[in-house]
Amino acid sequence: MTERVALTGVPETMLATLYCKALQSREPSPILVDDQAERAVERIDYDFSKLKIDKSTAMSTAIRALYLDRWAKEALAEYPNAVVLHLGCGLDTRFDRLAPGPGVTWYDVDYPEVIEIRRRLFPERPGHHQVAASVTDPAWLADVPADRPAVIVAEGLVQYLTKDEIAELFTRLVAHFPAGVLMFDAWNSLAMRSGSHQKAIKASGAKLGGFGINDPRVIETLAPGLRFDAEQTFLDIPEMATFSKASRTVFKLMDRVPTLRNMGRLLRYRF
Ligand SMILES: C[S@@+](CC[C@H](N)C(=O)[O-])C[C@H]1O[C@@H](n2cnc3c(N)ncnc32)[C@H](O)[C@@H]1O
Repeated sequence: MTERVALTGVPETMLATLYCKALQSREPSPILVDDQAERAVERIDYDFSKLKIDKSTAMSTAIRALYLDRWAKEALAEYPNAVVLHLGCGLDTRFDRLAPGPGVTWYDVDYPEVIEIRRRLFPERPGHHQVAASVTDPAWLADVPADRPAVIVAEGLVQYLTKDEIAELFTRLVAHFPAGVLMFDAWNSLAMRSGSHQKAIKASGAKLGGFGINDPRVIETLAPGLRFDAEQTFLDIPEMATFSKASRTVFKLMDRVPTLRNMGRLLRYRF
């Protein structure tokens, strides 16, 4: 059975990341194995070609997901009874990729129009909830247990939030849980300025939040209680060997210039 989707703007961007993961997963030697993304793309009635996703965009998206999966796995090993908040989850299948233990309670959170599609494709399982709300709405957090450590993952979300929204959201999360780990991908000011020209963002008409994160420590000042813990850039990792020679030459040059190296990176905080 096919599923019709009619999304525009920011929620539509999740079809691009889903498609990237499905494309990568179909490769003979995939960076990320994501059978569920492959099956979801087959079921969704949507013209994915309009997003103009090329091979290297699919690879970069899969790499970002793979490295976030690794961090999330490490955090779950540390906190086996965690509450996981997967913010701006889109149609990402991280719950299945990580297969968390029975001690974990998982919340996938996204806009109602996204969660409506998610529910048609991926039913909830024991220990797994899908929350239909803006992450910036304070109300939904009241139903999330506050007496356990949190593992908070946001992939492809923070770019769409304003500085004030990031500060309020992170401050609320730190206040809600006794301890935890927060991880997300961040763009610097240069990436924020050039991001609206990305084909998939243009195709959806999504508006970026405008706040570039140049120094990871700025987040500590926006949400006191968060401690910067780690960062991961992508230009010198083993997976880069799978890109074309021309791309690898560009990455090598970019890696030498901090503003270019830090255009997109993963950041991790503790609290
Ligand atoms: C680029 S997609 C990424 C989806 C998913 N994390 C992935 O990597 O495949 C951005 C997602 O963030 C969601 N999003 C953006 N702003 C949001 C908000 N204020 N509240 C809830 N979800 C939001 C969008 O609806 C979309 O699903």
